[in-house]
Amino acid sequence: MSTARVGDIEMAYDDVGSGPPLVLLHGFPFNRSMWHEQAEALSARYRVITPDLRGLGETTAADGDEPATMNLMAQDVAALMEHLGIARAAIGGLSMGGYVALALVHKFRLRVRALILADTRPQADTEEARAVREQQARKALAEGMDSLADAMLPKVLAPSTLAEQPLIVERVRRMMTSTRVEGAASALRGMAARNDRTFFLPDIIAPTLIIVGSEDRITPLADAELMRREIRGSRLEVIEGAGHVSNLERPMQFNYALKDFLDALQP
Ligand code: MLT
Repeated sequence: MSTARVGDIEMAYDDVGSGPPLVLLHGFPFNRSMWHEQAEALSARYRVITPDLRGLGETTAADGDEPATMNLMAQDVAALMEHLGIARAAIGGLSMGGYVALALVHKFRLRVRALILADTRPQADTEEARAVREQQARKALAEGMDSLADAMLPKVLAPSTLAEQPLIVERVRRMMTSTRVEGAASALRGMAARNDRTFFLPDIIAPTLIIVGSEDRITPLADAELMRREIRGSRLEVIEGAGHVSNLERPMQFNYALKDFLDALQP
């Protein structure tokens, strides 16, 4: 693990392999360890950088209880790239990481060589979803992460993962429960405040790969198809049998799709 001072936080990240840079952004309430299998599979050909987003994993939070907005997180990632001397990279994000990747391509277009949007969506939260996030934030702050993890686990993993892959279930649960409540609350409030980026999708010119688990119930196939329609020239890969955390639930299929896409990019 390395750390870098970016803006008002100390950002933890892993940086492995060599070759064209690939930055992978984790979902909520996870951390960079969710990309372990991708970093292993791709580091022979790519420099894989996996940061912990602000307030999550081993990255510090800002002082105070400001929401960790997707724009702020995108700014952190751009600053980390600057710190590492990386002008442009393929940027991939899963779920909340995808919200951050979209914010990054919107705000820092020149930094994005290619885009990978996994199990994510471009829409903002509805009023109802915002209210649920606020309840979840308060509950986490009052009671800790266990109840949030219990509520989320059956939604994030496919039924077959829950039934047949106990190690993955345990790993995802551990990531959730090891998340600091302040970081989780701040990210929940940041996601609630995020902009709708649907209108911006036709402006994306970076080659784009969209990935979704066929059993994803949080950001389902319809969201992936919307992005596929709106982002010119984009490609959609459906990972059969995977839920919302498709990279962990079906790493071989996920890595194959990712590698195939990255290997075909023009230098
Ligand atoms: C995630 O996996 O990052 C979250 O489920 C995204 C969300 O809650 O919108």
